[in-house]
Amino acid sequence: MAKCIAFHSYKGGTGKTTIASNCAAVLTKRGYKVALLDLDVYAPSLYAYFGKEPRKWLNDYLQGDADVEDVMVDATDTVREYAKGDMAGGDGRLWIGMCSMKKEEVYKMESNSLEGSRSQLRRFILLREQLISNYSPDYIMIDTSPGIRYWSINALAVADALLLTLKVGEIDIDGTNRLASEIYSSLTKYGAKSFLLLNRVAGYCVPDAAFAGGKQQQHDSNDNAHHHHHQHHNDDAAGRGGAGYDPAGLISGKTGMQVITSIPCYCDIQFSSKEFLTALVQPGHPFARQIENLIEAMRLKV
Ligand SMILES: Nc1ncnc2c1ncn2[C@@H]1O[C@H](COP(=O)(O)OP(=O)(O)O)[C@@H](O)[C@H]1O
Ligand SMILES: [Mg+2]
Repeated sequence: MAKCIAFHSYKGGTGKTTIASNCAAVLTKRGYKVALLDLDVYAPSLYAYFGKEPRKWLNDYLQGDADVEDVMVDATDTVREYAKGDMAGGDGRLWIGMCSMKKEEVYKMESNSLEGSRSQLRRFILLREQLISNYSPDYIMIDTSPGIRYWSINALAVADALLLTLKVGEIDIDGTNRLASEIYSSLTKYGAKSFLLLNRVAGYCVPDAAFAGGKQQQHDSNDNAHHHHHQHHNDDAAGRGGAGYDPAGLISGKTGMQVITSIPCYCDIQFSSKEFLTALVQPGHPFARQIENLIEAMRLKV
């Protein structure tokens, strides 16, 4: 059964696209079938990253002007290329659905009424169904627009797990809490699970002092803590503690949302368009293991 996972955030630039793309690519390399959807209408990036031209855009699909086969592009060859042919799992596949960069498409979405939003939700439900019946994916991963946009909410509504991505050090506590209490709580009523995903936590390349405190490890539910003693010196960043102000802890405490994983800030790796699949290009880098941790946490918890 496909697991549908949506990456969302209150603010932009928290790492949704980076993490979603790397997770999707690593899963593909391991032999899973993955559909990766770009629904960041304001800042689409998968088109630029993967450099593949779809026949139609997800925007067209959501407006009822395209079939799922017109939209999904096979990007397995990109994964194979970045993984240098090391497709450990054999027959993994990656399909991506891309969002148009044209301004008119954004205006069209923005001018949509409540009725438009409802009919779009029906298209989202159909999209999930058609992806499952036509591609039998193990994972459907959705990259969304930050904040409260109805297409993001619609994407969250069809997901099994909502990952609220936080850029530690720049967290808007009130905004994130509001998002969780107003939106997530109504979606999780119907069985979806929601988690906090902490990104760019202090330790690896950013000193703890740069963030006023960093007690993230207390909420870190994966096995980072176990790596502490036997991995090389600068690889245990997520686990390093500090006293005081702890915005992620405040959000977790107030919303009851569990932290699915904490990913340190790795300024040393270039997440440029050519190297955006860092977990494939540098499989030995600690970032790659963070992606493995997230994949394992998704397997266990979603
Ligand atoms: N763990 C990390 N360490 C260092 N840089 C990161 C990390 N995660 C993301 N980035 C960088 O942060 C920027 C924003 O990431 P992106 O995935 O585009 O965010 P979003 O999709 O949420 O807007 C990018 O330049 C990306 O390379
Ligand atoms: Mg993005």
